[in-house]
Amino acid sequence: MDSEQTVRTFLDFFRDRGHHILPGAGLVRPPGDPVLFTTSGMHPLTDYLTGRPHPAGRRLADVQRCLRTTDLDEVGDPTHLTAFQMLGSWSLGDYDSTRSVTWAYELLVDGYGIPPARLHATAFGGDTGRPGDALGPDTATERAWGGLGVPVERLGPDNWWTNGPTGPCGPDSEIFVWTGGGDPAGTPGTDPRWVEVWNHVSMCWQRGADGSLHRLPRGSVDTGMGLERLVTILQGKPSVYDSDVFDAWREVLPGLWEGDPATHRVTADHLRSAAVLVADGVRPAATGHGYVLRRLVRRVLALLWREDPDRTLADLPPEPVEVSLRHFGLRSDRVREVLLDEERRFAAQLMRGRRVLSQGRFTGRLGEDDYAYLHDTHGLPRDLVDALRAER
Ligand code: ALA
Repeated sequence: MDSEQTVRTFLDFFRDRGHHILPGAGLVRPPGDPVLFTTSGMHPLTDYLTGRPHPAGRRLADVQRCLRTTDLDEVGDPTHLTAFQMLGSWSLGDYDSTRSVTWAYELLVDGYGIPPARLHATAFGGDTGRPGDALGPDTATERAWGGLGVPVERLGPDNWWTNGPTGPCGPDSEIFVWTGGGDPAGTPGTDPRWVEVWNHVSMCWQRGADGSLHRLPRGSVDTGMGLERLVTILQGKPSVYDSDVFDAWREVLPGLWEGDPATHRVTADHLRSAAVLVADGVRPAATGHGYVLRRLVRRVLALLWREDPDRTLADLPPEPVEVSLRHFGLRSDRVREVLLDEERRFAAQLMRGRRVLSQGRFTGRLGEDDYAYLHDTHGLPRDLVDALRAER
């Protein structure tokens, strides 16, 4: 099943069960939101999960583009991506987690053809990680899994889901699929070949600014499943980069810029994420959203130039970017121009940086005032200064 069919199957399944399909929000969060980017499917729906009625009803589903920069150092491993699509379903005070996990089982087994013996669930064991919370284990969801014949493991704070230090939160039941060869072994807590695909959060609590927990007026269910990770499993591939989502990148990168597979993975991830940010209106900048875009592009350039300083993003053919934007339901004819402009700026900054840093006063240990001077007077951020000094 390719990624397009995977999305269609998901949305049809929930539409058939009375869910209104939402269009999905942009990546850039509006001013006043404590975070820069949409990081999960529930994020744009936070107000509705805490009680505000949603105009489209109490059963919702969508495909939401997300961006997570906390995982930047894990990018290149088999499962983490910077930009990804999250398949989400919500019950806003309608059905409970028992129905939600039962439908999840039905979709995974009947819709996606995953053998039931390759499923394992986890449930919240009662420990949120904060001693004062005093909650019990989520026995209702455990019973639901038991009724479906799916083994369930009780875990601690990992199964307490929250989108930030305050706001809606609750016990989480995670669904794992066995990706090892042969018969499943161990549990999600003991064997990493169990890969997490779908989270079902019983959003019943609200964390206040003082750390206290209050029950929400109505309990909701919030589920999220990373599309790229799901298709990797359905296609039996060892990593997200081997799934159809990255076909166009795999066809182009090795012939274009010789390098090891890890470099190609990071290059594909970052350029794809940069393209999505540009299509969502972000432009490189020294702060905020634009800084994240700048960092992604410059990380790629640093990798490419480490092997050969004459490499240029101008050589990248349009297909990989176009295919990736389509995957996210986006279009933009500005990506190439923005990437090349940033490449020029970075090259100029590197040249200036090398010249400035060759001065005697910067050859020894640098103090805070040196970093401040290099930043304020020459526009050289600390990480760039460190990288250029490491070249010597
Ligand atoms: N909000 C939950 C998640 O992002 C479903 O995993």
